[in-house]
Amino acid sequence: MADDLTIQTGGKDGGIVINDDWPGYSLELFNYPKHYSGDLECVYIPHGVIMDRTERLARNIMGDLGDHDIVVLCVLKAGYQFCADLVERIKALSRNSDHTLPMSVNFIRLKSYVNDQSTEDLHIVGAEDLSFLTGKVSSPAAIVDTGKTMKTLLKHVEAFRPKMIKVAGLLVKRVPNSSGCLPDYVGFEIPNRFVVGYALDYNEYFRDLNHICVISESGKLKYKV
Ligand code: HPA
Ligand code: MG
Repeated sequence: MADDLTIQTGGKDGGIVINDDWPGYSLELFNYPKHYSGDLECVYIPHGVIMDRTERLARNIMGDLGDHDIVVLCVLKAGYQFCADLVERIKALSRNSDHTLPMSVNFIRLKSYVNDQSTEDLHIVGAEDLSFLTGKVSSPAAIVDTGKTMKTLLKHVEAFRPKMIKVAGLLVKRVPNSSGCLPDYVGFEIPNRFVVGYALDYNEYFRDLNHICVISESGKLKYKV
């Protein structure tokens, strides 16, 4: 491991905490695609709140990394929306202040979930050559539950000896068997529930939903493989 490689875990801002008893908002209060009616239980985090929180994460990232060259490594598929919105907010801050954060963007694909269960075999696709990771890296991941996926990804990325690695995760789940591997920037800390929307899927469905929602039991049955 390079001497100047820093992986921080458990920063002081652990994200907005959503308690176990949070029931979410009634679906009647928001718009969502008709093709998902009956498939959802509630709106857990409305799209606007995600965007507002992402704007703040962008500011924190700018404050810490501003004026360095960074390589953003977007973790597909679930991280694409968070990554795109985070990059947009960083671009806006770079345009509107003396502070600037030059970025390049790259992509990596991970797959470990079937239905709502994590599988043991984690596939990394498109990661064969990460030699572009010479500068700093901010690696947005959409969701971190046990932290096993993040740990595997970090090990893989470290092998290419980047100068620094910072991880941004939109959601961190409170799970009993957490590896303790946490992102440096966290959007929300949520209960151990399976959520969909904002690019998070259940067997590839629900990526086209803008709010983060809890899937209903009938939704799980309908899209089960
Ligand atoms: N939703 C979608 N994908 C996931 C989740 C989740 O709650 N947890 C881990 N991958
Ligand atoms: Mg998935």
